[in-house]
Amino acid sequence: MLKLMIISSSIRQGRMSNRVALYFKNYLKEEYQINAGIIDLQEMNLPLLQERLKFLDNPPPALVTISQKIKNADGVLIITPEYNGGYPAALKNMMDGLREEWYRKPVAIASVSSGSFAASQVLTSLGFSLWKLKALLVPSFFQVAKVQDSFREDGSPVNKTRTDKNAASIIKELVWLATITK
Ligand SMILES: Cc1cc2nc3c(=O)[nH]c(=O)nc-3n(C[C@H](O)[C@H](O)[C@H](O)COP(=O)(O)O)c2cc1C
Repeated sequence: MLKLMIISSSIRQGRMSNRVALYFKNYLKEEYQINAGIIDLQEMNLPLLQERLKFLDNPPPALVTISQKIKNADGVLIITPEYNGGYPAALKNMMDGLREEWYRKPVAIASVSSGSFAASQVLTSLGFSLWKLKALLVPSFFQVAKVQDSFREDGSPVNKTRTDKNAASIIKELVWLATITK
C-alpha cells in the first residue's frame, strides 16, 4: 500500500486551507483506500529555524517527527495558502530544516486562496524551492479559489463532482510517480 503524507501549512488563526487538507485525506480514502497522514504545521508548532536538522545537537522533536514522516512517505501533497504571492513562513521554516528528506520525493502542490485568482502565484515560488531541494514535482496542480465558498469546515466540498474531478488529475499523477519511485 502506498504511503502518502499531506502537509497542511497554514498556522493562521481561523485558517481555511486546512479544509482542503481534510478533503484530500477523505478523497484518498474513498478513491484509493489510502490512509494518508496529515502533518499539521499548526499542531507541530516548530521553532524558527536555527540550522538544518542534521547539524543540530538538540533538534526540536517536532522537526525530527516531520523528518521521519516525510522519509517514510512514498509521496507528499502540500496544501499551501498564498501569502503575498508566496508560500507561508511556517512552510519555508519546515522545508529548510530538512534536505535529504526531499531528495527525489514525489511532491504535489494544492494552492488555496480566499480570492478569485486561485493562488496561482504561489505555485511558481513553492515549485522553485522544491526544485532546488531536488524533489520530484508532480506536473499537475490543484488550485482553489474562494475557499470559504467551496469547502466546508469538515473538508467536504460544496460541489463534490467538480472538486473530485479536479482532484483526480493531481492525485493520479502523484500516485503514478510515487508508485514508480517507491
Ligand atoms: C499575510 C497574508 C497574505 C495573503 N496574501 C494573499 C495573496 O497574495 N493572494 C491570495 O490569493 N490570497 C492571499 N491571502 C488570503 C489567503 O488566500 C486566505 O487567507 C486563504 O484562506 C488561505 O489561507 P489560510 O489557510 O491561512 O486561511 C493572504 C492572507 C494572509 C494572512
